[in-house]
Amino acid sequence: MKKVVFTLLTAALITTVAAGCGAGGKNAAAPSGGAKTETGGAAKKPVIGVAIYKFDDTFMTGVRNAISSNAEGKAQTDIVDSQNSQPTQNDKVDLFITKKVNALAINPVDRTGAGVIIDKAKAANTPVVFFNREPMEADMKKWDKVYYVGAKAEQSGTMEGQLVVDYFKAHPEADKNKDGTLQYVMLKGEPGHQDAELRTKFSIKAVEDAGIKVEKLAEDTAMWDRVKGQEKMAAFLASHGDKIEAVFANNDDMALGAIEALKAKGYFKDNKYMPVVGVDATAPAVKAMEEGTMLGTVLNDAKNQGKATFNLANVLAQGQTPSKDNIGYDITDGKYVWVPYKKITKENLNDAK
Ligand code: GAL
Repeated sequence: MKKVVFTLLTAALITTVAAGCGAGGKNAAAPSGGAKTETGGAAKKPVIGVAIYKFDDTFMTGVRNAISSNAEGKAQTDIVDSQNSQPTQNDKVDLFITKKVNALAINPVDRTGAGVIIDKAKAANTPVVFFNREPMEADMKKWDKVYYVGAKAEQSGTMEGQLVVDYFKAHPEADKNKDGTLQYVMLKGEPGHQDAELRTKFSIKAVEDAGIKVEKLAEDTAMWDRVKGQEKMAAFLASHGDKIEAVFANNDDMALGAIEALKAKGYFKDNKYMPVVGVDATAPAVKAMEEGTMLGTVLNDAKNQGKATFNLANVLAQGQTPSKDNIGYDITDGKYVWVPYKKITKENLNDAK
């Protein structure tokens, strides 16, 4: 009897181990965590090669995380850091193509570099979704399997300007020298980036459109960076001091840097205030708004941009034609997914959380 039980147990063990090995073997060959088909086999999941312009960027980290979380259980994403170098990114794209990924999702380092990537992708018949840095229109037209996910830069600029308009209208004392003109400084993102150019232009246009005269005291690029934002703001304060009546920053990181420089000059206490606005609605910016330093921001919806990028790439990777039904977002002109911005003030901070 004992021998029979032992034999049965051994047989059961061998079967279990064999089955386990089989599944493991298949999973190992398929992208990690391969989905099971109804018959119990491992379905091969699409592989998507994702390149971010640089990992060390607050807003892009949010987009990157959204891409990963949306891919869970659906596709394998191979996400790489282009380290702010277009040649590095081109090498990574070559590698993805050699590995035969099913689709590419690219956040270009230099948006004028997208054309070269499109040529490579087209030659390998690998669909490509660009995001956050909009390729030139002529490049977008090079191939029908090229898409872009982003947000309308001018919309964020206009909203940023309106935040300052509302503040000025509600606080006449903000016109410190009572000359009826808003003296401002501008912290710009990376020159040539659509968000830097258009936010700069449209934020000021919104102020002028509201009937407020403006005078630019200074403008400089701080490359989307908090530390550089602080340095540039310290320089603006050194040359213009209390003449400055408002600070526009093309993103929150630079706005937060400016706030540090202002704090060092005694602002945000004893009734010394400066309206500072940014874009993105990152967690530290929301915190600064709660603390009463940052006046307002504009939600740059990382979650939806990441989700739309993934959904598009995933559909393309499976050889399907994207539509609102299979990606969940409207497609404009057959190529563009636009995710709306939202104005964030102290009153609707929860919308940004
Ligand atoms: C912008 C964002 C910036 C920066 C930049 C990178 O949309 O507002 O903070 O992340 O993209 O391309």
